[in-house]
Amino acid sequence: IKSFLGDGDAEKGAFPHFMLKEIYEQPETLANAMRGRLDSDNATAHFGGLNLGAQQLRQIDRVVMTACGTSYHAALVGEYLFEEFARVPVEVEYASELRYRNPPMDRNTVVLALTQSGETADTLAALRESKRMGHTTLAICNAVGSSIARETDGGVYLHAGPEIGVASTKAFTSQVAVLAMLALYLGRTRHLSSTQGQRIIAELQALPDVIRKTLECHDQVKRVAAKYADAKNVLYLGRQYLYPVALEGALKLKEISYIHAEGYPAAEMKHGPIALVDESTPSVFLVPRGNVFDKVMSNMQEIKARGGPVIAIASPGDHEVAAVADDVIEIPDVPEYLQPIVTAIPLQLLAYEIALLCGCDVDKPRNLAKSVTVE
Ligand code: G6P
Repeated sequence: IKSFLGDGDAEKGAFPHFMLKEIYEQPETLANAMRGRLDSDNATAHFGGLNLGAQQLRQIDRVVMTACGTSYHAALVGEYLFEEFARVPVEVEYASELRYRNPPMDRNTVVLALTQSGETADTLAALRESKRMGHTTLAICNAVGSSIARETDGGVYLHAGPEIGVASTKAFTSQVAVLAMLALYLGRTRHLSSTQGQRIIAELQALPDVIRKTLECHDQVKRVAAKYADAKNVLYLGRQYLYPVALEGALKLKEISYIHAEGYPAAEMKHGPIALVDESTPSVFLVPRGNVFDKVMSNMQEIKARGGPVIAIASPGDHEVAAVADDVIEIPDVPEYLQPIVTAIPLQLLAYEIALLCGCDVDKPRNLAKSVTVE
């Protein structure tokens, strides 16, 4: 049964690898994550399996998000989303750390686990430990009927379909979309107005088409990959909503091409990583237009001044960026809170293309497992 359901060539369809297929599935997987959950009439979102009433929701004082790997990066985006839309304090912690800590958590703290597989041992253990302490536990999960899906008090499925490539792609963007909908839902029980809610719903509904358009950057990405595939170190830099995406871009490259990469908040690179910068160490800057654009631009100039090549992920036709960066990959304009989803796409493609050029086994990188069921 496993080989029948598993990674037979037929299931890849026209794609040479599962990872590429899964990257290209994202317009559909995002639509699936949102289907039936957005309620324009009430300017909110609905989730069948959350098992939390409006009263219980109102009582939440704090959310602790816990996860491993790529899911942890999605949780970091969730922190910004929940704080912006719902004004709920959030802490994000690696599941492997949370389970052995004894953090003070008051009664109205909800623990939210994020996991594609629903089987990651550390995430499951952190969830069980939180339950034992009497906290309400929730999960955002892809694999239906998985251990975490069964044990949590309530949860939201991604409906992204099986993810076979070891390096997570479509699960990440769906996790962020679900977090945005949860933030909307929570926010609407608090200060978020109906007009703001309607606007968010319209922006979320436009997302699948935006991602279709984003995938058109693939040719630009291929050219960039060809130029930098022999790099030994790569820095990924972004700020605010895009700091977690910098971490995720670096993780993707490490996982499948075995090139050392580090993600940093763009301004923090002055405190260490800038020492790595030379003409053979490229920096990938996440610099679409937004609140911190000018700040990121000046970080980019600091790297250029030290002779480091700059690859910029930028808004369409941004001349200011083009004047400084060596290479530009353009992505469609979206509100800042959706930039993590849109900017993740070129970084997934970049890791994929570089791994191909390095002759790596993209779908089954060495030493890694799709789901880590040991501590
Ligand atoms: C492994 C996978 C990663 C994944 C992480 C967490 O390390 O290789 O791609 O992000 O586990 O997995 P989960 O299923 O809990 O999201």
